[in-house]
Amino acid sequence: MDLFEYQARDIFEKHGVPVLGGVVATTPDEARAAAERLLPADGGVVVVKAQVKTGGRGKAGGVKLARSADEAAERAGEILGMDIKGHTVHRVMVAAGAAIEQEYYFSLLLDRAERRYLAMASVEGGMEIEQLAVERPEALARVAVDPRVGIDAATAERIVAAAGFPEKTSPEIAGKVAAVLQKLWDVYREEDATLVEVNPLVLTKDGDVVALDGKVTLDGNADFRHADHAALEDKAAADPLEARAKEKDLNYVKLDGEVGIIGNGAGLVMSTLDVVAYAGEAHGGVKPANFLDIGGGASAEVMAAGLDIILTDPQVKSVFVNVFGGITACDAVANGIVAALEILGDEASKPLVVRLDGNNVVEGRRILADAAHPLVTLADTMDGGADKAAELAHAAA
Ligand SMILES: Nc1ncnc2c1ncn2[C@@H]1O[C@H](COP(=O)(O)OP(=O)(O)OP(=O)(O)O)[C@@H](O)[C@H]1O
Ligand SMILES: [Mg+2]
Repeated sequence: MDLFEYQARDIFEKHGVPVLGGVVATTPDEARAAAERLLPADGGVVVVKAQVKTGGRGKAGGVKLARSADEAAERAGEILGMDIKGHTVHRVMVAAGAAIEQEYYFSLLLDRAERRYLAMASVEGGMEIEQLAVERPEALARVAVDPRVGIDAATAERIVAAAGFPEKTSPEIAGKVAAVLQKLWDVYREEDATLVEVNPLVLTKDGDVVALDGKVTLDGNADFRHADHAALEDKAAADPLEARAKEKDLNYVKLDGEVGIIGNGAGLVMSTLDVVAYAGEAHGGVKPANFLDIGGGASAEVMAAGLDIILTDPQVKSVFVNVFGGITACDAVANGIVAALEILGDEASKPLVVRLDGNNVVEGRRILADAAHPLVTLADTMDGGADKAAELAHAAA
């Protein structure tokens, strides 16, 4: 899960990374109130920053200075509602303004191929970092980080040395940066992140090293260790059906097509997607509408939850249930389907093609045949089922 900058800022603060005050606002009035809190009595500035999960906000006009609370409200009015690379701005963060002496770059990410972490650092940070990485890669130091060690004092020193901090800035500044990198490692490890990026990490006129921007990606596989991470989710942006599926622990991904797909096991579901897409070519080009893996235990409740989610998608015109009976045998799956249709009642309104195979298949097919539900068509093979589902979807479209 990618975090918004203001969420990254809060997490940085929690782990002792130096940050400036920042307050989220969703209206110009809230931005005015935030600026009133943040503006020092003797003048100074605040920065109004678009909160969207994409880079290049500054270049798109989503980061603006304000010298008064009224000006902050005005800037917020301009930025709220803006579109930045397809992301609508619903919130801004009003941040205390830093007097910037220099801008640096730092990131730490997971390097899967090398089975390590990779730290990148540069004394030339700021909005042109992508260009720098392409045009003068030598100015962006890359240092492998041993996961068993992390960024301890020695590793931090190696990173700042590789980026040239001691010579290009001063040993003192290099030392301050190294101390911040160790704190950023604490963020990475303790929050189970897969990315922590700070651009810019700045040196202020007062000689402090401060994180002025933050991008953090959290590893969803570690959610069970972080009860507090659920609150960071951007519920408004999530697909409502995906959110519902997640609540029920179903692996569901929404796609663009018309044929809903339910299978057990990721491999089977993926090949079902391929077969349906292929069959669809002969039926007006219909395509899979989703990926839904009900996993090993295809009980009536799980089947009902799966069907309910897929049938709620208005784009779905037919459903292909493709299950290979294993530990949960086909008769249990068939009973699950029959019970699920009963649970759903009138909500089940779209044709279902069911193909069962594997453990106890004869009994499974008999159960479905006996139930003779008007919406259900039985298929003997995966190809046949895909073809029938595509044909039904095309006819209903
Ligand atoms: N609190 C602040 N005080 C002063 N200047 C700031 C502040 N925050 C940001 N800036 C300036 O605005 C620039 C852009 O801000 P920021 O890095 O947050 O946005 P960005 O466009 O998302 O950057 P990126 O390209 O990393 O995505 C910074 O490089 C910095 O010069
Ligand atoms: Mg930035």
